[in-house]
Amino acid sequence: MERTLVLLKPDAVQRGLIGTIVARFEHKGLKIVGLKLRQFPVATVQKHYEAHKERPFYKALVEFMTSGPVVALVLEGKNAIEVTRKLMGKTNAAEAEPGTIRGDLALSRSNNLVHGSDSAAAAKQELALFFPEASEVCEWNAPEFPWVYSPEER
Ligand code: RTP
Ligand code: MG
Repeated sequence: MERTLVLLKPDAVQRGLIGTIVARFEHKGLKIVGLKLRQFPVATVQKHYEAHKERPFYKALVEFMTSGPVVALVLEGKNAIEVTRKLMGKTNAAEAEPGTIRGDLALSRSNNLVHGSDSAAAAKQELALFFPEASEVCEWNAPEFPWVYSPEER
């Protein structure tokens, strides 16, 4: 099982889409093991998007991501990182496939509702940044687990 960090960006919160987007992940079978709503400090968001520091959109991205509350989630499942990225769709929501979160619910390249870690290394760093305390992540047995995966997949 793998864990990934998901952020529901300020546009998702302001547009009343928290429930809709969280439901997409739940319905897929991913397990929510961490969840919080917070307006994150500039320093946290700067660190999170450090890889984009030299990009022209960096300043606007940090301003956008700190402009209001964000929902941070830890999702767990088999190949959770790749599965989550697939559910999100392409960065530019106008080009994202129908059926994906961005493809169905957004139109913008910057206001694209959701972030998901893009590699195992990124997930490790981002989970430590947004969920620094072990107590913020809950180990629990989802009763549907044996129905989501076959015995050899578990
Ligand atoms: P994310 O990191 O948020 O999950 O999104 P991503 O991997 O699909 O896209 P990435 O290339 O990592 O870009 C990070 C976020 O920066 C904003 N962006 N704006 N105006 C622009 O040209 C532009 N390009 C990227 C988006 O919010 C994007 O999700
Ligand atoms: Mg990215």
